[in-house]
This record gives sequence, structure tokens and C-alpha cells, in this order.
Amino acid sequence: MPKRGPAILVSMVCALTALLVLTSLAAAENKYIGSKACGDCHPDEFATYSKYAKKAHSSNSIKIMAGGLTEDELKTCYGCHTTGYGKPGGFVSFEKTPELANAGCEVCHGPGSAHADSGGDVKSIVLKMKISDCEACHSADRVKSFNFKPMLFGGAH
Ligand code: HEC
Ligand code: HEC
Ligand code: HEC
Ligand code: HEC
Repeated sequence: MPKRGPAILVSMVCALTALLVLTSLAAAENKYIGSKACGDCHPDEFATYSKYAKKAHSSNSIKIMAGGLTEDELKTCYGCHTTGYGKPGGFVSFEKTPELANAGCEVCHGPGSAHADSGGDVKSIVLKMKISDCEACHSADRVKSFNFKPMLFGGAH
């Protein structure tokens, strides 16, 4: 190894650390903006999602059952039936964050404020997702029966 090896290694480690810190800072600032806001630039995806995806009205599924539930019980539904509940910039309540009331684009593509604010930087939005990402809300058995096409059907595009 040439003498400069360790120095280069050290600066590489420094650069990597800086990159990691920057990435996590950016991630911390990335907020959920709601499907309608995505629709400003992706009208086709938004139109098919609104028309065909059950996710587009997933808050109705919990609202129709809300009468028989306590407020605490209802909160247990939010993690799957709304967008970003419990996460930074995610769903808080139907009154405060109506734009995040359903399971929107961002449950699959991740929070989109950085992507939207940058005018569509592709590096700041998730394109490829793993089927295991769906298991946060769908049972593993159900997910096993998914393949590429139903992945899209879940977002209906
Ligand atoms: C200000 C306009 C704008 C908004 C708002 C916006 N996008 Fe985009 N998006 C773009 C542009 C421009 C591209 C790159 C060109 C293309 O593929 O259409 C893009 C690309 C994408 C891609 C493909 C990324 C890739 O790697 O190819 C995905 C997925 C995406 N957007 C999802 C979303 C989601 C989800 C939202 C809402 C959270 C959203 N976009 C909001 C402009 C926008
Ligand atoms: C772990 C995630 C998760 C939680 C928590 C959850 N749901 Fe669901 N729920 C789903 C998924 C996913 C579906 C769609 C099932 C499918 O098609 O695979 C669904 C479907 C439903 C449906 C059926 C809608 C239809 O059109 O058939 C109703 C009603 C419903 N949920 C109500 C609730 C209520 C009320 C709560 C809270 C007490 C709740 N869910 C909590 C994930 C969840
Ligand atoms: C944040 C929770 C969440 C995540 C993550 C999620 N889903 Fe869903 N999905 C739902 C809920 C809730 C419903 C049912 C809505 C209802 O009927 O109330 C649903 C419905 C569906 C459906 C039913 C088909 C239809 O008519 O809309 C499919 C298929 C589906 N999701 C696929 C996927 C796939 C594939 C992924 C992973 C890429 C995924 N989902 C990730 C919450 C989620
Ligand atoms: C159930 C998960 C899911 C939901 C919900 C979802 N998408 Fe997607 N989206 C995908 C998958 C999977 C792809 C294809 C990724 C690939 O190419 O491997 C994709 C691709 C895209 C692309 C890239 C161009 C294309 O059509 O292939 C855009 C743009 C996009 N989605 C926007 C949106 C918008 C806007 C919404 C909400 C209105 C949305 N998505 C909701 C899973 C989802």
C-alpha cells in the first residue's frame, strides 16, 4: 500500500460520514404532503389511484366503524388506514391533516415534500419497493400472494 493510503482512507470515511449526516438531515425534513399534491404533477397516477385504489378511501373503512370504537381503539387503525401516522409530518387527525386521511401515494413512495419542493428530484422519492415493505400493513400471507402487478394495483397505476 502506498504511504498516502491511510490518509485517503480517513478522508473517505469523513466524506462518507458527512454524507450520512446530510442524508439523515434531509430525511428528517422530508414531510408527507398528501396524494392530491402529488397529483399536481402526476395527474394520470392520481386519477387512476382516486378511481380504482381502495387506499384512496381507506379512511371511510374506519369511519364507518368509528361509532362502535373508543378514541383509543380508533387510533390503532390510523397506522394502516391513513398516511404517515406517528411519523414526522404524518397524519395527526381528520381535522388537522385531512390531506393525509387515506393511505396515499406516500405509504408506498415515502414522504414526498423534498421531491415536490425540488420540482421532482428523482433521488428524493422511492421508486423501487420491496414486497416486504407492504407487510407493515398487509399480513405476510396476503403479501405472499402479491406480485409485481398487484404492487401497482395497490396504487392502481
Ligand atoms: C412539482 C412537481 C412534482 C410533484 C408535486 C411530485 N412529483 Fe414526482 N416527479 C416529478 C418529476 C418532474 C419527475 C421526473 C419525471 C418523470 O418521471 O415524470 C417525477 C418522478 C417521480 C417518480 C419516479 C422516480 C424515478 O426514480 O424515476 C415517482 C415514483 C414520483 N415522482 C412520485 C411522486 C409522489 C408520490 C409525489 C407526491 C408525494 C410526487 N411525485 C410529487 C414531479 C413532481
Ligand atoms: C396492520 C394494518 C391495519 C390495521 C391496524 C387496521 N387495518 Fe383495516 N385493513 C387493512 C388492510 C391492509 C385492509 C385491506 C385488506 C386487503 O384487501 O388485503 C383493511 C381493510 C379494512 C376494512 C375492509 C374494507 C373493505 O372494503 O373491505 C375495514 C372495514 C377495516 N379495514 C377497518 C379497520 C378498523 C376499524 C381498524 C381499527 C380498529 C383497522 N381496520 C385497523 C389494514 C389494517
Ligand atoms: C400504510 C399502510 C399500507 C401500506 C404500506 C401498503 N398498503 Fe395496500 N392497502 C392499505 C389499506 C388500508 C388498504 C385497504 C383500504 C380499504 O379498503 O379501506 C389497502 C389495499 C390494498 C390492495 C387492495 C386492492 C385495491 O382494490 O386497492 C392491494 C392490492 C394493496 N393494498 C397492495 C399493496 C402493496 C403491493 C403494498 C406495498 C408496495 C401496499 N399495499 C402497501 C394499506 C397499506
Ligand atoms: C401500493 C403502492 C403504491 C401506491 C399507493 C402508489 N404507487 Fe406509484 N408506483 C408503485 C410501484 C410498485 C411503481 C413501479 C416501480 C417500478 O418501476 O419498479 C410505481 C411507479 C410510480 C411512478 C413512476 C412512473 C410509473 O408510472 O411507473 C410514479 C410517477 C408514481 N408511481 C406516482 C404515484 C402517485 C402520484 C401515487 C398516488 C396518486 C402513487 N404512485 C401511488 C407503487 C405505488
